[in-house]
Amino acid sequence: MRDLNHDVARILIPRDSLSQRIHELGQQITADYHGKDPVLVGVLKGAVVFMVDLARAISLPVELDFMAVSSYGASTQSTGVVRILKDLDRSIGGRDVLVVEDIVDSGLTLRYIVDNLCDRRPASLRICALLRKQKARTPGPEIDYVGFEIPDDFVVGYGLDYAEQYRNLPYIGVLRPELYEREQV
Ligand code: IMP
Ligand code: MG
Repeated sequence: MRDLNHDVARILIPRDSLSQRIHELGQQITADYHGKDPVLVGVLKGAVVFMVDLARAISLPVELDFMAVSSYGASTQSTGVVRILKDLDRSIGGRDVLVVEDIVDSGLTLRYIVDNLCDRRPASLRICALLRKQKARTPGPEIDYVGFEIPDDFVVGYGLDYAEQYRNLPYIGVLRPELYEREQV
């Protein structure tokens, strides 16, 4: 049987570091939202693995809701043209919303989601991203909670995919470039 681990050039963030950092983020969010009952809005599908671990690290009554978006264009690069495939189940008007994202690369996807959610008049809106790439640190939307700053390599695992594969790897790894570089030519 094919071993997905062989497609990974190197492990960037091992599972222990992920769980330790997510525990810290959970404690920070618990303190910041004291007395509130925020709605965690996960961006499908990449944020799912992170979101379920983060939610369990938060000691507050939270609600979970999900949005699915797709960006047009090549699968390793964002175009900023975003389409909503699945909207939230419930209204977020007057609620404290925490958007949970797997990774901010160009920030274009997140920009679209944040603008769209702000139009619905939440009481507050913050962003929590597990990973932020280097190139995302200039302009882009402000990220309130960042798990890890990472280099601009294409990464997979812990929810992140390449062509819908590798989401179930328990760590964040750098995909061997020869597996996708033909597509980028
Ligand atoms: P952005 O619009 O360029 O910020 O891209 C955001 C989305 O692209 C993320 O939610 C991911 O789905 C995907 N993405 C960006 N970089 C990576 C990566 O290194 N691995 C897997 N998916 C990525
Ligand atoms: Mg994604």
